[in-house]
Amino acid sequence: MRDAILVTGGSGFIGSNFILNWIECVGSPVVNLDLLTYAGNPANLSSLQGDPRYRFIRGDICDSELAGSLLREHQPCAIVHFAAESHVDRSIASPGAFLRTNVEGTCVLLEQARRYWSSLSLADQHAFRFLHISTDEVYGSLGPSDPPFIESAPYAPNSPYAASKAAADHFARAYFRTCGLPVLTTNCSNNYGPFQFPEKLIPLMILNALEGKPLPVYGDGLQVRDWLYVDDHCAAIRAVLQDGRAGETYHIGGSSERTNIHVVKAICDLVDEMVPPVSTGPRRNLIATVKDRPGHDRRYAMDTSKIRRELGWQPSIVFETGLRKTVRWYLDHPEWTEGVRTGAYLEWIQQNYTRRPER
Ligand code: NAD
Ligand code: TYD
Repeated sequence: MRDAILVTGGSGFIGSNFILNWIECVGSPVVNLDLLTYAGNPANLSSLQGDPRYRFIRGDICDSELAGSLLREHQPCAIVHFAAESHVDRSIASPGAFLRTNVEGTCVLLEQARRYWSSLSLADQHAFRFLHISTDEVYGSLGPSDPPFIESAPYAPNSPYAASKAAADHFARAYFRTCGLPVLTTNCSNNYGPFQFPEKLIPLMILNALEGKPLPVYGDGLQVRDWLYVDDHCAAIRAVLQDGRAGETYHIGGSSERTNIHVVKAICDLVDEMVPPVSTGPRRNLIATVKDRPGHDRRYAMDTSKIRRELGWQPSIVFETGLRKTVRWYLDHPEWTEGVRTGAYLEWIQQNYTRRPER
């Protein structure tokens, strides 16, 4: 076994931030297995071109032969499994891809990891880690005064996305309990930061605000998410890989609960400050409440006392600072934005928002 890690879905939002962060902070080799779906973008990692520590393989996590041969060839000491279909609205429109990648793909990886792990020496087996990256959405929705989710909260997924991630979490758990594979699971709250695909709330609102387009807030906009700057998520994953206990689940979150409407107004104000509106008036005027998402979860929040207590991790970037950095990043990288807004992206925007007349 070598000191390389295998990352799946490393060309997406969190995966690419994680790889950049890993190369900078740890520096051991990374093999990135990514299918490059609409959400995967090699440009996120263009700064690693020619770096001998980085290797990209385009492929599907559902391809068991490929996964098995990559493990045998690169002999990684850990797998960090990000690859997924990740957008709730798309899961409502077409759940099939979520079942395939999130459930079947995770099972394929777990099985190939088990076979590879069984071939290792006892010392290497002990050191090996399969880190399954999951979400707070598996627990369903909280009421306004409920305490945040703890690691033993019952699963109650409400969207096809959440259901597929919940199923994957159960398989990850089963591979630890039944086979002894050293699996760890992290369930994280909503991330934001550079390289996030502009179908998700924060980048969509930044880009629409910049372009003077309507800002479509679902329902009453009082749904609550717990926002975490992506670099803090990457640091938490490194802490779990290094010191987390096999078979355990760790919650990761920003302890930054905000309503959607609060987030959208904050984005309007930041964009107004950085690119003053000359003739159009304040960007808050662009806010349009539209038809709600079916099954829309009202509130998520994570109790992160376990990871704070056991691994000494805590978020380091407060929401207002992280949001400012994020708006700045999108303003400074128009070429990235242009690159991801392909015909397929425009088609999705058309499909999602024409079904959502104003309320
Ligand atoms: P993303 O959609 O930006 O990226 C997903 C990546 O997976 C893309 O690069 C895509 O090409 C790749 N991929 C998709 N299907 C694949 C397949 N069959 N084989 C190989 N690669 C494939 O997602 P993200 O926001 O970076 O999320 C990464 C992980 O973190 C996901 O597992 C998600 O459930 C989890 N998560 C995300 C958030 C969030 O706020 N974004 C919060 C908690 C957990
Ligand atoms: P999203 O970024 O899709 O993440 P998730 O659904 O996984 O939490 O959405 C975050 C919140 O923003 C969610 O409550 C839905 C809401 N939302 C809007 O109000 N308008 C939009 O156009 C989008 C994409 C999301």
